[in-house]
Amino acid sequence: MSPASTPSLLSVAGLRKVYTTRHGDIKALDGVSFDIAPGETLALVGESGCGKSTLASALLGLASFDTGTITIDGNATTAHSRWTKMPPRRDVGVVFQNPQSSLDPKMKVRSIIGEPLQTIGVRGDALTERVTELLNQVGLGPEFVRRYPHQLSGGQQQRVAIARALAREPRMLILDEPTAALDVSVQAQILKLLKALQAKSNVSYLFITHDLGVVDYLAHRVAVMYLGRIVETGPVSDVFTDPRHPYTRALLDAVPVIDPSRRRQQAPLDGEVPSPINRPSGCSFSPRCRWATSVCRASEPQIFEEGQQRGYLCFHPMSRGESGSSAESS
Ligand SMILES: Nc1ncnc2c1ncn2[C@@H]1O[C@H](COP(=O)(O)OP(=O)(O)OP(=O)(O)O)[C@@H](O)[C@H]1O
Ligand SMILES: [Mg+2]
Repeated sequence: MSPASTPSLLSVAGLRKVYTTRHGDIKALDGVSFDIAPGETLALVGESGCGKSTLASALLGLASFDTGTITIDGNATTAHSRWTKMPPRRDVGVVFQNPQSSLDPKMKVRSIIGEPLQTIGVRGDALTERVTELLNQVGLGPEFVRRYPHQLSGGQQQRVAIARALAREPRMLILDEPTAALDVSVQAQILKLLKALQAKSNVSYLFITHDLGVVDYLAHRVAVMYLGRIVETGPVSDVFTDPRHPYTRALLDAVPVIDPSRRRQQAPLDGEVPSPINRPSGCSFSPRCRWATSVCRASEPQIFEEGQQRGYLCFHPMSRGESGSSAESS
């Protein structure tokens, strides 16, 4: 559901992934579909364990998936029926949450950023020059080339991780909670940097985060995940001011409110995410939803589309200004 006029850079259709464990099967991705246009940021939000990192691994070619298609810039990858490790995608870069574990402590910054360039044959002075240019793009001076990760602050380490991700000029970056390990002021600098880089290069972002404030600042559209499914998607301003899915409403209500004049519309979300092994029947959110009715417990909602940009999986969507659905609880 990207704007009809813009061709997608990334298109994901019907992605499914089951992890087989000793305790049972986990449907980590249960039919995930979305698009991202060039220069667009899609934020992916949802509680821990809902499948965000699994989706990122599939997009990066680091993990297989069972059904569905991933199309990046016109090149489609279809599900592999047997486990075969796909080559990591060159057109997609990645930045993880914790730079301390994603940067090799034994490598200097020149090698960390230069490694993806060496694999495409860039060497010697050309390599140093390109690394310096990338450092400059992320706001670090040329003196950083000789430093090791432990000689950098957390924010500087994440800048190096971003430079490395950008080295081969990917059309898209996957950012898996890139600012979650940083303190608030450093977080703000990194977000500003990401915004500036996108404005310059038209790179697309899939931004995975728990922080709805970050979504509001950086993203154009948001996809809300719950137990392996996208339960609501749409432009950030529409979804945040007028959510359709009670889970989206609950996530928004869970954000701390500093202004005492702004009262909560309802109590924040109760209970835990159900076990992904023993998923509830019908709508997965129904056991935690105060508006669930018998239809919600009996059947799985399919996507309801609202215009070209919004969609949600709910039998009793909320409407503007409503603190709850009009459906009677039963
Ligand atoms: N390699 C694996 N083997 C078995 N189960 C896995 C594996 N990786 C993830 N899972 C399970 O799949 C589900 C989705 O996990 P995933 O890491 O994608 O969640 P997430 O949304 O990224 O969570 P978080 O916000 O905590 O990072 C979870 O129930 C998780 O326990
Ligand atoms: Mg994760």
